[in-house]
Amino acid sequence: DIFPVILCGGSGTRLWPMSRGGFPKQYLKLTGDDSLVQQTALRLHGIADIAPPIVLTNNAQRFLVAEQLRQIHVKPSSIVLEPVGRNTAPAIAVAAMLALRQSPDALLLVLPSDHVIANEAAFAEGVGAAARLARERYLVTFGITPTEPNTGYGYIRAGAALAEAASAHIVDSFVEKPDAPTAQRFVDEGGYYWNSGMFMFSASAYLDELRRYGAEIVEHAERALDAAEQDHDFLRLDAPEFAACPNVSIDYAVMEHTDRAAVIATSDLGWSDIGSWSALAALSDGDADGNTLLGDVMADAMSNSYIRAEHRMVAAIGLDNVVIVETADAVLVVHRDKVQNVKHIVEKLNASG
Ligand code: GDD
Ligand code: MG
Repeated sequence: DIFPVILCGGSGTRLWPMSRGGFPKQYLKLTGDDSLVQQTALRLHGIADIAPPIVLTNNAQRFLVAEQLRQIHVKPSSIVLEPVGRNTAPAIAVAAMLALRQSPDALLLVLPSDHVIANEAAFAEGVGAAARLARERYLVTFGITPTEPNTGYGYIRAGAALAEAASAHIVDSFVEKPDAPTAQRFVDEGGYYWNSGMFMFSASAYLDELRRYGAEIVEHAERALDAAEQDHDFLRLDAPEFAACPNVSIDYAVMEHTDRAAVIATSDLGWSDIGSWSALAALSDGDADGNTLLGDVMADAMSNSYIRAEHRMVAAIGLDNVVIVETADAVLVVHRDKVQNVKHIVEKLNASG
């Protein structure tokens, strides 16, 4: 059986003012009627032999995620609450232990909740290929062809082809979030993929590798789960034990070190992690002037702009390449080339309380 693991404990800042500390990106309906976490769960309907998802989040987001899944009639096998954020390596360890209680051969399909995937058929096909490799105890990544030297991603160098499928390769090296010159070198050299952030592996293979490279995580995660308490729909991990886990992502803890990694090249997923307002704008075709106008918006002599009105009417005249996002209590106006600087505003806001 395939056990999907939905990670939704993160808090995005780059899509401020829509994404907030108390209402992060994965719960926003950015590209249609379903939020990103809802899309993540719905995407699983195309996959055979799939168990209900294991969802991992934190206390603050528990009702958001429970309600959004209820709305789309997805009933998780558990909603695990992490008492403190310890990043993805410990969270996935807990999910692996939960899945192993149900089946010693459990395969995990680890899914971030902050992405869009336009081509669901390609996703299902990729998962099928990944499952075959995961059964052979490979830790499978899904590779995306890079389009720029983005330093926010993991970089995977593909090695020897695996006979099973033309698009499957051994991973020669995995480098999480390289610095800018290194990312540039990877893109120039070619042969590298971005890590999509999705993974597939057998639960026991993951725990074996994690024991090898981060034994402390396994120990404390195990005790945090043993001492967990079921609170209505939520499984609360033991706070002192979980807090004792090192704070580290799966990418640094396991993927950079393991020699059991494989990559499946997924050329046509239509993947985007919507890392900025311009990335979101790029997902829609726009009108004849290259504008995307959402909500009550009037635009005159505007081009290549993304304008989103949530609560009030917005009128814009005579500007090129701008992003305008209006919400009830904040309005963002930013040049399309400067959308990465939104995080500076959020830092200042956080600093001023
Ligand atoms: N439950 C839980 N607990 N979820 C978490 C936690 C946590 O402590 N921290 C992060 N998450 C969730 C986020 O909500 C997101 O859905 C997913 O795990 C990945 O975390 P990010 O913080 O968004 O990671 P990233 O974007 O910096 O990097 C990862 O994704 C990139 C692709 O978008 C890495 O896997 C990179 O290698 C990859 O390229
Ligand atoms: Mg991310």
